[in-house]
Amino acid sequence: MSKIILTGDRPTGRLHVGHYVGSLRRRVELQNSGEFDKIFIMIADAQALTDNADNPEKIRQNVVEVALDYLSVGLDPNKSNLFVQSQISELTELTFFYSNLVTVSRLQRNPTVKAEIQMRNFEASIPVGFFTYPISQAADITAFKATTVPVGEDQMPMIEQTREIVRKFNSVYGETLVEPDILLPDNQACMRLPGTDGKAKMSKSLGNCIYLSDTEEDVKAKVMSMYTDPDHIKITDPGKLEGNTVFTYLDAFSRPEHFPEFLPDYNNLDELKEHYKRGGLGDVKVKKFLNNVLQSELAPIRARRAEFEKDIPEVYNILKKGSDAAREVAAETLADVKRAMKINYFEDMALIKEQSEKYSR
Ligand code: TRP
Repeated sequence: MSKIILTGDRPTGRLHVGHYVGSLRRRVELQNSGEFDKIFIMIADAQALTDNADNPEKIRQNVVEVALDYLSVGLDPNKSNLFVQSQISELTELTFFYSNLVTVSRLQRNPTVKAEIQMRNFEASIPVGFFTYPISQAADITAFKATTVPVGEDQMPMIEQTREIVRKFNSVYGETLVEPDILLPDNQACMRLPGTDGKAKMSKSLGNCIYLSDTEEDVKAKVMSMYTDPDHIKITDPGKLEGNTVFTYLDAFSRPEHFPEFLPDYNNLDELKEHYKRGGLGDVKVKKFLNNVLQSELAPIRARRAEFEKDIPEVYNILKKGSDAAREVAAETLADVKRAMKINYFEDMALIKEQSEKYSR
């Protein structure tokens, strides 16, 4: 069986370093590993509209921002198909058919939807489209016969719900859809990178994100004001690593080769951590190291972005080509689905024959 990846992001803002360590970096590795037959990366604008119905302009503006972020981290349109969800109308048809296989109570139990409803104060009145987006996400995944969905752990309930829909569909209508596997980030710190203020989640409204498109100066300023251990007041005080954002970021970003280059007094991160815990290591020194590590990772991304920013029509053209190719694949799956459901009346010669015999008796 071919190995196929599908994943994507809602275009509600520029992508930040949390997206990078949580998924983008991995996607580029997977892309370049040559292990996959096809890779689909989707800008989920239709899903973004499920909770931004009154702000379509925000989504419209961010489609190209996310595309630029994708291209700048090294997703290559010749290897990965980059496309826009709303342009593939087959996805909405699949969603409509799958929705017959899902109950309201099952959707209500989806932990991610539950948390999002609370976060958005939707308790009193939930938009139907938002409530049912896990079904549309199952359509996104199955339309491309994806075997592998690389996403963050918050998406686990979505993949689980997709797998249930696949099993249900296949048991009712016969083996048609492919059950996907989730592929989680491998490093614990990458599962959920906290905001620069130490809060659990990076969010634009909290102003605690480091964006991939931030300037060198912005990144430095954000790193130097990062949350650390509030009880680590004097350099000689012993320091705590738990909840210390600077060390969480180092877990996610630093590599052994960064030490000889930027901090040759230490051989590796463990030594640095030990010294911090013991006392005698100041926050500023650690932050300067983190800044160097981050800048070395972000500089090539920034440079590639600047190149693509010079030709925005070409970026849209890449998305159009990707969407055209994606539509062809989704149309094949939709035809499979209609055939399995036996609603392909006009190509079902046996049905036409059966019905005409009924009336010629
Ligand atoms: N729900 C994902 C997010 O919020 C975006 C998304 C939509 C997605 N459809 C998908 C991710 C299919 C993986 C597979 O970022």
